[in-house]
Amino acid sequence: MSELAVTILPETTADDAAIERLTERTFGPGRYSRTAYRIRESVRHRLDLSFVARVGTLMVGSVRLTPIRIGETPALLLGPLTVEPPFRDRGIGRLLIERSLADAKAAGHRLVLLVGDEPYYRRTGFKPVPKGRLRMPGPVDPARLLVAELEPGAFEGVAGAIEPERQSA
Ligand SMILES: CC(C)(COP(=O)(O)OP(=O)(O)OC[C@H]1O[C@@H](n2cnc3c(N)ncnc32)[C@H](O)[C@@H]1OP(=O)(O)O)[C@@H](O)C(=O)NCCC(=O)NCCS
Repeated sequence: MSELAVTILPETTADDAAIERLTERTFGPGRYSRTAYRIRESVRHRLDLSFVARVGTLMVGSVRLTPIRIGETPALLLGPLTVEPPFRDRGIGRLLIERSLADAKAAGHRLVLLVGDEPYYRRTGFKPVPKGRLRMPGPVDPARLLVAELEPGAFEGVAGAIEPERQSA
């Protein structure tokens, strides 16, 4: 946990510009060619399941959840997750992930996917997706495709193509 007074709040439209600047600084223009971005550019993230971290009035981190489908199964895609460099390693990333997963679960969601570093995300319950079980709409390193079950067994029998959930946009 952080020794700073960090507040985690649902994202609002007023946070858009600051989040865009943070992700631009973190991932650079190359982010647009990433497969996860391709999904996110065709469907709006869920503001009520996306969160910002603040220290006082300063926004220091952000996580977004976007509605997707795996075949017929609804799910959420987590990302981008970003924390301002001077505020890293204080538990803020973890707080953002835990809050988004808790609120997603409370809203009835059962599965969250992401493309990211397993050594980091395993701490919050993410596991590698068995190779070949899901198809992303572009190239993804299979070792970085991770899933978290918000209900035990929620990923059992789930397979297929991952697509944006356009109706929930
Ligand atoms: C990844 C990121 C969001 C973590 O935020 P954070 O607030 O520093 O994370 P936390 O404080 O919750 O966790 C810090 C711990 O995670 C570890 N960690 C950070 N990034 C890691 C990674 N990519 N792989 C493995 N471990 C990682 C840190 O070494 C630290 O370990 P410790 O607790 O043993 O000291 C932040 O480093 C960031 O914005 N990075 C650039 C963008 C990015 O990579 N986003 C995620 C896409 S995979």
